[in-house]
Amino acid sequence: MLKWVLAAAAVVAVPFTASAQDAEAGAAVFKKCAACHQIGPTAKNGLGPNLQCVPGSKAGHHAEGFAYSDALKNSGLTWTDENLLAWFENDDKLVPGNKMIFPAHVKSEEDRANLLAFIKSQCKQ
Ligand code: HEC
Repeated sequence: MLKWVLAAAAVVAVPFTASAQDAEAGAAVFKKCAACHQIGPTAKNGLGPNLQCVPGSKAGHHAEGFAYSDALKNSGLTWTDENLLAWFENDDKLVPGNKMIFPAHVKSEEDRANLLAFIKSQCKQ
């Protein structure tokens, strides 16, 4: 099944849109994050802030009660798709001095896109 999906994706050049498959693949990538981050309707803060509905929020202001670093709090960033993808790739480059200790950055562009689709899929209006 997965091979078929990959083959179909390679043959048909569809523009990127988030699909259920992307979100499912993103859920697997999110396992790297789950040690510190919760997501979903009942998500709480842990070592990292909860990431429920983080897209569109102001960086460092989303999770109530979480002690964000000044670097992130004062970054002035909004979590647009572009900023989130840049954060997954290299958070230190996007916000130097932030306190997310996450050396294994998400190196694959596809994984980053799937991760974003997953995070968004958790926040249904
Ligand atoms: C070792 C723990 C840890 C891991 C693993 C981790 N994070 Fe984080 N994350 C943090 C901490 C701590 C912060 C707060 C950083 C700050 O205040 O500077 C954070 C912040 C964030 C934010 C900003 C949230 C906001 O409210 O502004 C996002 C988005 C995020 N992490 C996504 C991820 C993703 C996606 C992964 C997995 C690919 C991941 N993190 C892995 C600890 C972690």
